[in-house]
Amino acid sequence: MAITMAKGEIFVFVMVYVFLVLNHVNANHEEEADRISALPGQPKVSFDQFSGYVTVSKVGERALFYWLTEAVHDPLSKPLVIWLNGGPGCSSIAYGASEEIGPFRLNKTASGLYINKFSWNTVANLLFLETPAGVGFSYTNKSSDLFNTGDKRTAKDSLQFVIRWMERFPRYKHREVYLTGESYAGHYVPQLAREIMAYNAASKHPINLKGIMVGNAVTDNYYDNLGTVTYWWSHAMISDKTYKQLLNKCDFRQQKNSDDCESLYSYAMDQEFGNIDQYNIYAPPCNNSDGSRSSRQALHLPHRPHPSIRQYSGYDPCTEKYAEIYYNRPDVQKALHANKTKIPYKWTACSEALNRHWNDTAISVLPIYKEMIASGLRIWVFSGDVDSVVPVTATRFSLAQLKLPTKVPWYPWYVKKQVGGWTEVYEGLTFATVRGAGHEVPLFKPRAALQLFKSFLGGKTLPKS
Ligand SMILES: *[C@@H]1O[C@H](CO)[C@@H](O)[C@H](O)[C@H]1NC(C)=O
Ligand SMILES: *[C@@H]1O[C@H](CO)[C@@H](O)[C@H](O)[C@H]1NC(C)=O
Ligand SMILES: *[C@@H]1O[C@H](CO)[C@@H](O)[C@H](O)[C@H]1NC(C)=O
Ligand SMILES: *[C@@H]1O[C@H](CO)[C@@H](O)[C@H](O)[C@H]1NC(C)=O
Ligand SMILES: *[C@@H]1O[C@H](CO)[C@@H](O)[C@H](O)[C@H]1NC(C)=O
Repeated sequence: MAITMAKGEIFVFVMVYVFLVLNHVNANHEEEADRISALPGQPKVSFDQFSGYVTVSKVGERALFYWLTEAVHDPLSKPLVIWLNGGPGCSSIAYGASEEIGPFRLNKTASGLYINKFSWNTVANLLFLETPAGVGFSYTNKSSDLFNTGDKRTAKDSLQFVIRWMERFPRYKHREVYLTGESYAGHYVPQLAREIMAYNAASKHPINLKGIMVGNAVTDNYYDNLGTVTYWWSHAMISDKTYKQLLNKCDFRQQKNSDDCESLYSYAMDQEFGNIDQYNIYAPPCNNSDGSRSSRQALHLPHRPHPSIRQYSGYDPCTEKYAEIYYNRPDVQKALHANKTKIPYKWTACSEALNRHWNDTAISVLPIYKEMIASGLRIWVFSGDVDSVVPVTATRFSLAQLKLPTKVPWYPWYVKKQVGGWTEVYEGLTFATVRGAGHEVPLFKPRAALQLFKSFLGGKTLPKS
């Protein structure tokens, strides 16, 4: 077969070819170095993945680890969604990526991955960030950093991360950005949004931040604490007497409880709760092999220093244990470009050191909500309604302080013809519950969580049928 081309056509053909080759050669080397070819035990997928480190401190001691899983279809037209888990000290790779919204779930032998068909990367590019330094694979070369980190440094380092990450991935520079997360990320997300708003006000290259969404989010010490004990009482977890005493003896505004108050918390949890999963009060708890409670139940909280409340990390299903096996494998770390500097401790789902020494914590992030509302960000707050750690009553008491006018009155929203939960739309903020979901909403109710995410991204109210 003869191919005939006019001179002009050949010229155009050659130029297009040269352009494509040059473009490829010029492709950002740093970005390509972060490309994941495949993780051990991973099924074949059609989307691209990248992971690696971004240095965030000026003198270069701290580096944050990220994992980007791009959207399944047409990633260039989809927004960038940053997901953060809480703790403080817990990993977005352990929770968000591996058991909530990410494309893969770990199987029971921790030797392979399978596809999560309700992954949020079916509609957006997902960037999981382990923050601050000391969480997961994110590290610091200055060990004292592990003992004086708090809300402020987390926000500042996370902003540096976003700026520098976009330098590495220029195709994301003008993309719509949404910040999402759960639990103690109820602090991180608004605090990072505020850092970005301040950065944008002074920058020629603003970050195109469009909105935030948080779930079972730590918001305001006083109203969260009041709402939490009220949830315990209204869900028949504690006696009338203990409830009344908690209300009388505890100063919910305080960071540190009095001894009287402490002993009431201990009594409620040790004598009245029983062996339940506080992150989903109707689910069977995950036991240690010796039948004892999980060690995570014994970790401290920075601003509710009660030994038997676990940190705000999430449900304690046994899957967290699979994550600790899988992500400590040398072949997995190699595939992820993680732990290149031989971090002197194991990868854990949550860092106990960071959690115990959390240096500063905001009493309330409600003032930031006012700033975000004033700046026109899209704000959604959701709540799995069987969580007793940051329960729905805590969130409702806290949000009520904003005194926002109602735009769409309370109604049940639907997913697959079932009531997915209830919602009310306020001027400036949408609140939604997820019926029957525990602390980690996308783990317990993946289909409902994806519906919530789609409605949020689309800027639409939740389905009325
Ligand atoms: C931390 O130290 C290691 C070993 O000296 C070095 O390779 C790495 O670049 C340092 N990381 C940062 C963020 O400075
Ligand atoms: C987990 O995945 C690995 C690798 O694909 C496979 O060999 C193993 O049989 C799987 N185990 C379970 C319990 O699914
Ligand atoms: C934990 O132990 C209790 C009591 O033995 C049992 O009922 C429950 O099913 C166990 N939980 C799991 C996740 O195995
Ligand atoms: C990093 O790798 C070293 C071995 O090189 C290992 O001992 C350590 O547990 C790993 N740490 C993390 C956080 O992955
Ligand atoms: C936080 O860190 C600063 C600086 O290292 C220190 O002076 C302060 O005492 C710490 N505060 C708490 C509550 O740990």
